[in-house]
Amino acid sequence: MPTAATSLDGTLSSHAPADTRAIGRALGEAAAPGALVALIGPLGAGKTQLTKGIAEGLGVSGVVNSPTFVLMNEHPGRLRLFHVDAYRLEGPDEAFAAGLLDDRAADGVTVVEWADRLAGWLPDERLDVTVEPDGAGADERRITWHATGDEHVALAAAALGARRAADR
Ligand SMILES: Nc1ncnc2c1ncn2[C@@H]1O[C@H](COP(=O)(O)OP(=O)(O)O)[C@@H](O)[C@H]1O
Ligand SMILES: [Mg+2]
Repeated sequence: MPTAATSLDGTLSSHAPADTRAIGRALGEAAAPGALVALIGPLGAGKTQLTKGIAEGLGVSGVVNSPTFVLMNEHPGRLRLFHVDAYRLEGPDEAFAAGLLDDRAADGVTVVEWADRLAGWLPDERLDVTVEPDGAGADERRITWHATGDEHVALAAAALGARRAADR
């Protein structure tokens, strides 16, 4: 009898860009080969800040910005970081043509900004992270995450599970 996919979710608060980067750094430090992080949230929410943190955690030394002129940026680190921004993509075909989740992804870590634009095209086993403005202050963000599959549940548990909702 098939068992339901394992999953785990949670919510964190970020009070400053450095908090969001610290959350990303924990993910980068704990990430195993093949990790897929799907970032969702409006423009200016902090998806790229989170990605910069993931890059730091992976030991990436170069500057990480949203891939503006190419569809996917690659950064060497402890594991190779593949950074896709689906904002300007016409659709899934363009993303996959640009190399999203090609053979090399199994050895690296893939981070997709605007992952909701690729809804239904990403593998089920991944870590979704939604970053949203959170009421009160200009720098307040609510970060909700949902991991599916053993590897991504393990990643989320290691990097995010122990953080308290109010952690800075
Ligand atoms: N708590 C926070 N977390 C992340 N970014 C924040 C936070 N508070 C303010 N900011 C600012 O919001 C902006 C987020 O930009 P960016 O990460 O490029 O967003 P996105 O990639 O989601 O469009 C940055 O200018 C950052 O300094
Ligand atoms: Mg961005």
